[in-house]
Amino acid sequence: MDNKKKRPVILDGDPGHDDAIAWVLASTIDDFDIKAITTVAGNQTLEKVTYNARRIAALLHLDIEVAKGRNRPLCADLIIAPNFHGETGLDGPKLPEPHLPLSNLSAIEMMAKVLQESEEKVTIISTGAQTNVAALLLAHPELKEKIEMISTMGGGLRNGNWTSGAEFNILVDPEAAYTVYHSGVPLQMCGLDVTEQALVYPEEFERIRALHNPIAETVAGWFDFFFIHVKSLGWAGATTHDPCAVMSLVHPEIFDIRDYYVDIELSGRYCRGATIADYHGRLGKEPNCRCVVGLDRQKFVDYLVEACSKYEGWEV
Ligand code: RIB
Ligand code: CA
Repeated sequence: MDNKKKRPVILDGDPGHDDAIAWVLASTIDDFDIKAITTVAGNQTLEKVTYNARRIAALLHLDIEVAKGRNRPLCADLIIAPNFHGETGLDGPKLPEPHLPLSNLSAIEMMAKVLQESEEKVTIISTGAQTNVAALLLAHPELKEKIEMISTMGGGLRNGNWTSGAEFNILVDPEAAYTVYHSGVPLQMCGLDVTEQALVYPEEFERIRALHNPIAETVAGWFDFFFIHVKSLGWAGATTHDPCAVMSLVHPEIFDIRDYYVDIELSGRYCRGATIADYHGRLGKEPNCRCVVGLDRQKFVDYLVEACSKYEGWEV
């Protein structure tokens, strides 16, 4: 299948172990034509997640220059998550050094360029704070029509994971999320509702490691590190957040997806960053979001293992 028939995709994230696994998955999808990789501060500082993104691109032989995004949220002060992802933001397996220079375009300039130049509508897969996506929509409202969908990992209709009410990606930049959720662009939300069901258990890390190719061993090592803190919180498996935002695009049949009107709490003293679904239709507004709220966990894991198996014989 040639590129012009493929689905143009932009990967925007804050790698981050689960972002990295999501990008491994994305790079195995024949239907995807990855047009850009852009970074946003969140799991670690912008410098660190950008260096990680460039190393992931080298590991996966992606001939795509990484474009650096905003180093802080639209309004809020930056929060980072070294407890989950370590001082580098991607602690654990050794990775190659970047094989390409950093793009001289900013993330927003790169995103806009891809949208302007693409004949097909473009899918943006956002697995970090939505700062870059919001900045793109604010700077280039005329390009909204070139966006097929924004598939996000973020939010939680029933709970948070950084505060009781807010999930990390949304809480890092609630104003950005508000801009995205009010943009009118087709939106898919993989919140904690599904990602805290998308558990990968240690014995399944071994299924991946047993594939004995460099990418599978790296992914297993990322799960090893990520699970250290997650296990200390009481989880029996790794909450595999970001890959849901990729897999729900290519295997929607294994997910439970509901259409709701969702809004972002900006001013709650205890609930700033909460994603609130109008389950009961009290607001009288049309749904603005396809909310992914459940999955077939076993099939999710099987597809992850299958993706890692495609790197048989890979040279790092
Ligand atoms: O809450 C989970 C999200 O926050 C994931 O995207 C993880 O990578 C962190 O960014
Ligand atoms: Ca992330």
